[in-house]
Amino acid sequence: MNPMGPMPKPKNILFMCQVERPPHFPKPSCVREGTRDLFMFTQQKMEELGIDPFTNWLIPTGCLNRCGFGPVMLVEPGEYMYVNLTKEKIERILKEHIQGGKPVEEYLIPEDFWA
Ligand code: FES
Repeated sequence: MNPMGPMPKPKNILFMCQVERPPHFPKPSCVREGTRDLFMFTQQKMEELGIDPFTNWLIPTGCLNRCGFGPVMLVEPGEYMYVNLTKEKIERILKEHIQGGKPVEEYLIPEDFWA
């Protein structure tokens, strides 16, 4: 694919918080000891599952304001905010939501945390 030519519109955009604050900062960070390889894991798993990166964009992003629930990932369309992510959860989200079109409800932030 020519990177300067037309490209398909995204089907899904996965915004994964990649904030790492200094140690002892008063707010927790999504990227910390034990979660540092989550982004690369997600990239590798997408490739392994054959998920098209041109229509399913994985974007490293800044703070999504749900630091206490980190690591978090917001999947659009639909404002699906996945929280407390692990590799196991990410694999299931990729298979069921991104490939299957069915969000994994039990990994979403509780409704009361939306205003
Ligand atoms: S640091 Fe990830 S949501 Fe704030």
